[in-house]
Amino acid sequence: MANIKNLYVIGWPIGHSRSPLIHQYWIEKHGLKAQYSQKAIAPEDLRNFIHTLDPDQCLGFNITIPHKEAVFAQVLARDILADKLSATNTISWRDGKLYANNTDGYGFYRNLIQYSNWQQIDQPVIIYGAGGASRAILQALHDAGAKHIYIYNRTISRAEKLLEDLDIKANVFKDVAEMSNCLDRCGLFINTTSLGMNGENDLDIDLSAMPKGAIVADIVYTPLKTGLLRQAEDLGLVTVDGLGMLLHQAAKAFEIWFGILPEVDDELRDLIVRDL
Ligand code: ATR
Repeated sequence: MANIKNLYVIGWPIGHSRSPLIHQYWIEKHGLKAQYSQKAIAPEDLRNFIHTLDPDQCLGFNITIPHKEAVFAQVLARDILADKLSATNTISWRDGKLYANNTDGYGFYRNLIQYSNWQQIDQPVIIYGAGGASRAILQALHDAGAKHIYIYNRTISRAEKLLEDLDIKANVFKDVAEMSNCLDRCGLFINTTSLGMNGENDLDIDLSAMPKGAIVADIVYTPLKTGLLRQAEDLGLVTVDGLGMLLHQAAKAFEIWFGILPEVDDELRDLIVRDL
């Protein structure tokens, strides 16, 4: 009988990751011989973890904060997207070598399409934040053809650096007032920061000028309905919560490991919602 292969999500601290619940759901659904668990790996132990992995025992792993860039830097083979983003969230094996993938942008985009059917590539898109999540989302929207991308970040230089790194032409707002003035033309507003997460302040912006049918997306999923999404819902705007991004980035990782793109169905979503 074939050995059971292991899969992990690594982070520091790892906290309460939902990835084991998601992947175990699909592993059982597809009757696969695999086991997915979480591992807390301190930064000083990362190198040892990576270099002692055995392909006979382990199919790959996911990476979460703060290791996405550090793992990328230690793995020599990468797909184009991970290379572009200088970060990886999914490691697999290719030709006996660890191979870095990045499925975050895919996860964001699939979720956006599932819940909003976003197609307005001519309307301005506003990305709030310029951290790691923003990077993957900016690249995904650029690749999807968004013609007018605007970024707001508290630290302007970080937004400018992001555009320079990715070699994407977009606009950086100088301040909140400039961003607010753009809202009446904006088709899609995305929060890519942790603002609105349990225990953090809400993203404080008045969305009332946004046009009818515009979309507001949040990457935060604890709570599922952030203050930003509640405001958007009250205004009759289309809302996209952050849980779907988590589920779809996981689905793509699962496909990389097993060659099966699993379904993100309501049963799975309900399972994770009960765990939030
Ligand atoms: P991640 O990898 O999760 O995106 P990150 O790289 O630390 O995390 O980025 C966090 C983002 O949230 C940044 O855009 C950060 O703005 P700065 O670059 O100015 O730090 C933004 N952010 C965090 N706390 C914020 C706050 N209180 N107000 C506004 N932006 C905030």
